[in-house]
Amino acid sequence: MKSIIVNPASGLRGELTVPGDKSISHRGIMFGAIAQGTTRLSGFLDSADCRSTINCFRSLGIDIDTGGGEVLVHGRGLHGLNAPASVLDVGNSGTTARLISGILCAGDFTCTLTGDSSIQKRPMKRIIDPLLAMGADISSVNNNGCVPLSITGRKLSGITWESPVASAQVKSCILLAGLYATGDTTVTEPAISRDHTERMLGAYGAALTRSGNSVTISPAAELHALDINIPGDISSAAYFIAAALICPGSELTIRNVNINPTRAGILKVIEQMGANFSLDNVHTDSGEECCDITIRSSSLHGTVIEGDIIPTLIDELPIIAVLGAFADGTTIIRDAAELKVKESDRIALISDNLSALGCDITPTEDGMIINGGRPLTGCSIRTASDHRIAMSFAVAALNATGSTTIDDMACVSISFPDFFDQLFSLSN
Ligand code: S3P
Repeated sequence: MKSIIVNPASGLRGELTVPGDKSISHRGIMFGAIAQGTTRLSGFLDSADCRSTINCFRSLGIDIDTGGGEVLVHGRGLHGLNAPASVLDVGNSGTTARLISGILCAGDFTCTLTGDSSIQKRPMKRIIDPLLAMGADISSVNNNGCVPLSITGRKLSGITWESPVASAQVKSCILLAGLYATGDTTVTEPAISRDHTERMLGAYGAALTRSGNSVTISPAAELHALDINIPGDISSAAYFIAAALICPGSELTIRNVNINPTRAGILKVIEQMGANFSLDNVHTDSGEECCDITIRSSSLHGTVIEGDIIPTLIDELPIIAVLGAFADGTTIIRDAAELKVKESDRIALISDNLSALGCDITPTEDGMIINGGRPLTGCSIRTASDHRIAMSFAVAALNATGSTTIDDMACVSISFPDFFDQLFSLSN
């Protein structure tokens, strides 16, 4: 594991674009694979997680061209996947594991799906239960509710499912299985999670309706290929938004960022914390709201983050916690127990690493309490190879005293391979 040292920086100035949205990139491959015709994806995120999705669908017989600037997915229709020759490897990617399972349960073959040591600990019962209720043949090979999963395709029936967690991965898995079921399928979640699946499947020709926190999908006869322009990922932009906020003398513009309201909760939070920023050139492209974001260094104050906003910023909570450490007063994060089952236990890791930097932080069952405003001092950061922990603490290091060592620099390749290059080129 190769570590990296991050030193304090003065202002970040200039402009940048961040890589394409990860959630949309995964879905572009998956939905393109089961549509008729060729899906053209521009702005595709070339990262380890999205490559896991590409590799799985190639193993299922889909031709995917990644050579040029665009990715071309040569779809074979809803029933066009072939049995893979070997085990499907989803790597570190929860999105790949959970969404692909909804499709595989309706295939006409048996397969096994596995992934790395992190994904082998993440909960899959949340998709196994609804898929079993639809009549699927899916089981956890080690009987521990995790991958490896063994799946044999079957005829599925529509269900009405109340998900105990607000999770776009669970919702999307059930909706994808619902495409193949007899009768309609409805998923209700406690709060609305990211809605890319609903938007994109609708554009591919599926029939979906939303009512409050519920989405209903009807079985589809066919999906039709699309051209999709993928905007920059707000989850990646978040590190640069935070860096510009906390480094004095910053003024940074991030171009073409996805601000779909089910993803952009961080913008509401920084507004509540007193951030100086503006959104320009707001427009819609390929069904997603996008804009340029300009951020200036700001004096922040603490806030409370809880309730329905949590799913709209779930991946940004590590960097929001870092902002809390630099803000005056108390920042409280609640209703975010999901953080414990991400790529790492993020409540524990955020708390351990912010404490090591000298911050006053108390972890709770479903979040944390941060008494911000103390100066932070560089230290060694343990990432557990979680990309979002590595990037969040690299940003914290920019405004700490002395050097900070991040124990694994390579893990950022999961979602943002050029992260350190971009960070250092803007902060030097
Ligand atoms: C994702 C949904 C979220 C998020 C993940 C990507 C998606 O997970 O944390 O990084 O693309 O659907 P949950 O839906 O499980 O919260």
